[in-house]
Amino acid sequence: MESDLAQRDVIGVQDAVLLEDIHSESIFIDNLEKRFKENLIYTYIGPVLISVNPYKELSTYDAGTVEKYRNVNFYEVPPHVFAVSDTALRAMRGEHADQCILISGESGSGKTEASKKILQFIAAISHNQKIVGSVKEKLLQSNPVLEAFGNAKTNRNNNSSRFGKYMDTEFSSIGEPVGGHILNYLLEKSRVVYQAKGERNFHIFYQLLAGADDALLANLQLTRDPSNYFYTKQGESSKVRQIDDAADFKLVNAAMKVMDLEEAEIGAIFRIIATILHLGNVNFGDNNGRATLDSKNEVNTMAKLLDCSFDSIENALLNKTIDARGDVVTSPLTRDEALYARDALAKAIYGRLFDWLVRKLNESLTKAENQKTLVVGILDIYGFEIFEKNSFEQFCINYCNEKLQQLFIELTLKSEQEEYLREGIQWEPIKYFDNKIIVDLVEEKHKGIIAIMDEECLRPGESSDRTFLAKMNKNLTFHPHFISHEKCDNKGRKTIDRDEFRVLHYAGEVTYNVNGFLDKNNDLLFRDLKEAMSNAKNIIAKETFTKSELTSKKRPDTAASQFKNSLGQLSVILKSKEPSYIRCIKPNDDQVPNKFNRDIVSHQVKYLGLMENLRVRRAGFAYRRPYEGFLNRYKALCPATWPHLKQGMTPKEGVQLLANHLKYGKDDYRMGKTKIFIRLPRTLFETEDAFQKRKNELLAKIQAIWKGRAQRKKYLKIRARIIQVQAKVRKFLAKRRAQKRRWAVAVIRGFIQGFIARNETPSDANKRFLQFVRFQYLLRLSKQLPKSVLEKDKWPERCPKSCEDAHSTLRLLHLRWLVRCYFKNLSPERKKMFELKVLAEKIFDGKKNGYTQTITVWFKTNRLSNEQNTVFKANFENGIKPPNENLIYVCPVVKYDRHGYKPRERILALTDSALYLLDAKDAKTKHRLNFKQLVRVRITKMKDGLVLVNIPEELKKDKGDLILSCDFVFEALTYLIDISKNPELLAIEDTSSITHRMIDGKEGIIEVTTNGGATGIMKGKNGHLIVVSQ
Ligand SMILES: Nc1ncnc2c1ncn2[C@@H]1O[C@H](COP(=O)(O)OP(=O)(O)OP(=O)(O)O)[C@@H](O)[C@H]1O
Ligand SMILES: [Mg+2]
Repeated sequence: MESDLAQRDVIGVQDAVLLEDIHSESIFIDNLEKRFKENLIYTYIGPVLISVNPYKELSTYDAGTVEKYRNVNFYEVPPHVFAVSDTALRAMRGEHADQCILISGESGSGKTEASKKILQFIAAISHNQKIVGSVKEKLLQSNPVLEAFGNAKTNRNNNSSRFGKYMDTEFSSIGEPVGGHILNYLLEKSRVVYQAKGERNFHIFYQLLAGADDALLANLQLTRDPSNYFYTKQGESSKVRQIDDAADFKLVNAAMKVMDLEEAEIGAIFRIIATILHLGNVNFGDNNGRATLDSKNEVNTMAKLLDCSFDSIENALLNKTIDARGDVVTSPLTRDEALYARDALAKAIYGRLFDWLVRKLNESLTKAENQKTLVVGILDIYGFEIFEKNSFEQFCINYCNEKLQQLFIELTLKSEQEEYLREGIQWEPIKYFDNKIIVDLVEEKHKGIIAIMDEECLRPGESSDRTFLAKMNKNLTFHPHFISHEKCDNKGRKTIDRDEFRVLHYAGEVTYNVNGFLDKNNDLLFRDLKEAMSNAKNIIAKETFTKSELTSKKRPDTAASQFKNSLGQLSVILKSKEPSYIRCIKPNDDQVPNKFNRDIVSHQVKYLGLMENLRVRRAGFAYRRPYEGFLNRYKALCPATWPHLKQGMTPKEGVQLLANHLKYGKDDYRMGKTKIFIRLPRTLFETEDAFQKRKNELLAKIQAIWKGRAQRKKYLKIRARIIQVQAKVRKFLAKRRAQKRRWAVAVIRGFIQGFIARNETPSDANKRFLQFVRFQYLLRLSKQLPKSVLEKDKWPERCPKSCEDAHSTLRLLHLRWLVRCYFKNLSPERKKMFELKVLAEKIFDGKKNGYTQTITVWFKTNRLSNEQNTVFKANFENGIKPPNENLIYVCPVVKYDRHGYKPRERILALTDSALYLLDAKDAKTKHRLNFKQLVRVRITKMKDGLVLVNIPEELKKDKGDLILSCDFVFEALTYLIDISKNPELLAIEDTSSITHRMIDGKEGIIEVTTNGGATGIMKGKNGHLIVVSQ
């Protein structure tokens, strides 16, 4: 905390308790002066803040300073009004106790400024969320409004509060401002109609005249110059150098809007102010003892501004109606009475306007919800004052200050000392002046000044201020604090007139002029005036002068009694809260900076009782608390007291344990009968710091447990829901399973029934089963199908009875399909082979023996041996054969001569155009027969290789039919038929003898036999060719 300020603060001592000599007032004032000269206006006496008015702007209220004082223990930072504010706020939050800050001091000592600084601090440390932001703005803005209407320039203070103010700021449980409430006390209404020389009326009159724009002024029928109005000119000081009324008017206007005052209401307020100004200018003439209006202009304007009839106001200003037990008598007023009535009306209107305004501010400050709140109250009440001429108002103000001093004494000096005695703490009593005697002088029932005044006001018969004074003289002659002309000795009489009395206040002697006391105390307003106002349509007039007031028979309390009662209530309010004190001191009477008048200060130090305060403080203990409370707050700091004290132990013993554990020094504390007393704030603050640290740890623990609980609760909730859902899902699934089972049972039953009736004609009973059987059969079959044509016999044998038709149809279809596949996959050569085989079947099946043995043997296109083939290729294929002919088939044959049947080896070659018979040795052509030249090819039915080729007769060169024997007769002939495309060419003869033609028309005979030993072809003995077949 070593800041510049802290550095500078080494000047003097920050807490007067630390002064060497606490009995010397001069040393005490020296310290204040030393600090004051360095602009250090704040000094402590223990927790009480002394503030010396600097009469100049200091830089110690900026945002940085706010931060510096925020949440910092009081003793760690230099004395400041922010430290007091922060301590109060923290005590409120930490101890859950309402707080109040009592600001006292004489007029001009800086009370109102201090209260504003406290609000500034509260506003600065609170957040800016919507509600809090608007509340803090309102708390701040309520001040300019109240000051405009309730403050005035006096000879002691340019901005003197002419009313008392107690303002509660309400805080939410988390310490944010959420609302506020203002109590106002006795406004000095007489100022509206009279100002002493050098003084002014309430600021608002001058602000309106200086700040209103021309249109508004014209509307209110006002002119700018305050000296044009009786109520603003009497003090002859309407212009104050330090005050900018026009600028203030703007601020007040804006502030009224922030405080939720509507345009219409603001307009009504200005009309009321203007009405009062016009009312002050109403003058009366005298007509045979009856008052008359000098001019009707003002009343006319008033009627317009108040929105009522001219007559009603005129009538009320000139007459008085008295209702004496039903007898209503109206009598005219004298000029003096009319002037009195005029001023009474002005005071009444203004007084009620002020109350109305406070009500409006309170409505605007009312917190939104009905939440429980803690409050910090600030009391800023008019300070003790002595004027040249002191009247009823000064009497009330000074009485109020007596009352507050009494409260201060009670709460600090008296109660503190009494407490030490009560608690059995060793104590040397300190003498101080107890002003109770003065308070009693003023307020004591039946005996006090107020009681006497009330009695004079209320009693029947002629009473006047003089009779009041006489009665006081009679009753209070022996009171040490009451002095009057009568009571004085000769010397004294020179200082006090016959119509004066003097009270020796705690703060000094004040001489009051008794004139006007009873009137002001009565605070009466003629009924006619009330009635006229209640008939006005101006919203404020209407609201503040109610009809019910006219009919009420009850006499209102006198002003002094009302004030006394409200001060009584204020004492109750303040006593119910934890107090903090700010004692303001005024350094000079000239309202100038840097001037420290020791006499003036000394006077205040005396009457404020600061020296006594200092001595009590020094000798005493800074802090005390009942054992239970102390233990409850700090028990967490000691294992022996946390979480509970050992059974049977008293709280006092617990606190002792705690003090031992916290290592309090022997002199640091005392154990009283019911309380612990701690001497230095430091000890307490250290304990508090330790507690805050511990609280955080505990909080973290509690938070963890709470979070755990919350999570578990959440978990259990989720679990219960899951179980619910699970049950539903299970139910659903079980239902579905049961349904499925039912369905399955039905299916199985149907299946069994179907099985039983499987061989019957299809009906409902077996339809499904058969379908199933068919399906299964097809499924099975699909897995057992033969894979190729060659496996066609592997077709499954068995099939259900109901599928037999399908089985055979499918078999056929499948076979065809296999064949089709087979064919689709065949090469052209293979295909040709098949065609040839089919052709062979057609030609030979059942027509020639031995055919069936050849079926399985594939045809070949070349049957030559390798040697034959070589020759054949060389000579025939690449020589003899014309290039345009394609060789198709070749095989070895034996040719039998037509004469003598000598066998000769030959090669049979078939091209696409002709049949060649070649020499087997050299493959030279022996015969070439164009297919067209072929007449017929004859074979036997028997199993032999004989082939007889008929050659047309004209082919002489061929020397007749060719007799051939071929091992591949089926193959060769099939090729021949295929190439020639002439099936007619072949003749299969079922005969045992075949004739063949030879050249020159001769014929030979070929005999075909089966019963002759070995097979073969040879020349028989009969000259025939013998073919022996099987
Ligand atoms: N802390 C301060 N810093 C600067 N100027 C201050 C301070 N306190 C007071 N003043 C000056 O002193 C003047 C009078 O102060 P203030 O109005 O607070 O007195 P008061 O005690 O409320 O008097 P009254 O009892 O007449 O209302 C202020 O207008 C301001 O000029
Ligand atoms: Mg003030």
